[in-house]
Amino acid sequence: MDFLKSILFALLSFIITFALSAPAIVTTVVTVTAPEATPSASASTHESGGEEHIVIIDKNAPVPPQVAEVLKRLDLDEGHSDVRHVFNNSAFQGFAASMKSHCLDLLANMSDVSMVEKAVTVSRADMARHDAPWGLQRISTSSDFAGSPQDMDYTYTYTDNNLGEGSDVYIIDTGIYTSHNVFNGRASMLWSFDGDMDDKDGHGTHVAGTAAGSILGVASNANIYGVKALDADGGGWSSNVVAAIDYVIQRHDSQKKSTPNSNFAGSVISMSLATSEPVTAITQAVTAALSAGIHTIVAAGNAATDACTSSPASSGGTHGSALTIGAISITNTPASFTNYGSCVDLYAPGVDIVSSWIGSPNMVNVLSGTSMATPHVTGIVAVAMAGNATLARNPGLMKESVRMVAVDVGNGVLVANNGIRQGASGNGKREVVDGKGKWERAFSGLDASGSCRRESESTTAAWLCNARR
Ligand SMILES: *[C@@H]1O[C@H](CO)[C@@H](O)[C@H](O)[C@H]1NC(C)=O
Ligand SMILES: *[C@@H]1O[C@H](CO)[C@@H](O)[C@H](O)[C@H]1NC(C)=O
Ligand SMILES: *[C@@H]1O[C@H](CO)[C@@H](O)[C@H](O)[C@H]1NC(C)=O
Repeated sequence: MDFLKSILFALLSFIITFALSAPAIVTTVVTVTAPEATPSASASTHESGGEEHIVIIDKNAPVPPQVAEVLKRLDLDEGHSDVRHVFNNSAFQGFAASMKSHCLDLLANMSDVSMVEKAVTVSRADMARHDAPWGLQRISTSSDFAGSPQDMDYTYTYTDNNLGEGSDVYIIDTGIYTSHNVFNGRASMLWSFDGDMDDKDGHGTHVAGTAAGSILGVASNANIYGVKALDADGGGWSSNVVAAIDYVIQRHDSQKKSTPNSNFAGSVISMSLATSEPVTAITQAVTAALSAGIHTIVAAGNAATDACTSSPASSGGTHGSALTIGAISITNTPASFTNYGSCVDLYAPGVDIVSSWIGSPNMVNVLSGTSMATPHVTGIVAVAMAGNATLARNPGLMKESVRMVAVDVGNGVLVANNGIRQGASGNGKREVVDGKGKWERAFSGLDASGSCRRESESTTAAWLCNARR
């Protein structure tokens, strides 16, 4: 693995629109002596105020050091407030810390450290929040389409009722509003980069609803776990994303160990987020998750450019075993904003997607983006995992299988599919083939027309469902 040999200083400039919030870690600061001569045994050579970097230890070093040992060489320790994360899972070890050139010079000389990379910002991969009538779409596209994408009178067809039961779906995003009605108690928040478990943005709740919500989602019986790496503005740091993946690998390993014969089908990570440059630390963390046996579904990004220029999108297509997902509209047309190219595996619905939202247990919102496309495939994978233990254990095989059953709609566009070709078809409204009862019951939670009404013009862009109680 080349990256294990290289030491990378990513000198990327990003617009940082918010302050880095360092959690107050309250521990005893253990003063250690630096490897080289220092003025006094009690003075640390570490200076605060540096930029955050991600450091990964070389597993292939003759004697791979512990994280604590590397920190010690830098006059740091896990309790130091400049150390924001320690990564410790079966696939990689390292840490994220704010460091100045002194530390970076020391790290550059350590042959047992495989990577040092500056933390960069990441942002969610949605394009716009739509509440436009279909006529505006009509005048802004030359494609035909059938039905109103904001109606909810379509039919979901599937082969059995497992719908992802036993599959663990990890949503790495802004958090999840777990009390939303579509989650029926199946969702929980497990981890947050800043300790705050609330979804203050709505994006993560929307993504989770599509992946595994009832009524609105694909794998409606899966376990849904919120792993929060993005903040209330939908942005964040690459180091938080790496820490989130680190968390998921650890939890997956412990689930595998603690529930060998029970109802644990496997794990899938869903990442609806994208950077504006490739980020080696994210690539490496995704590779580690995949080799730990965790399926990883990622957004292509919304920059209308080659998906290989963004992370984690660059880990998919012909470039890795992640599944990278672009967005199409109701007409099977790639969205104007979607990234594309050899890093994209599949396209999935990503324009005018109705899903769960924050604020109240029946709130929904209509969003567009590769963020919305990604969880459709996450759901397909979660369902497939629950139905096939061979696929569940093997992300590479799963990727092959999901690509194989996808529908080729021409022009190089493969559209994600759950294996059912003879499902409902026609003018927006689709015939029911299977699972009819489930969906009728589910929709009875909404108003008589099966849709939602606009609640407030001025205070929110969200749509409030007029639920029958
Ligand atoms: C990392 O995890 C291993 C196994 O759980 C444990 O033995 C070790 O002490 C951990 N190291 C750190 C630095 O937390
Ligand atoms: C790193 O190694 C080089 C060459 O061995 C040496 O000249 C330099 O002083 C070292 N730097 C640090 C910070 O140890
Ligand atoms: C599981 O998937 C593999 C790979 O696609 C396939 O060969 C196998 O027949 C499937 N097993 C079942 C029980 O469907």
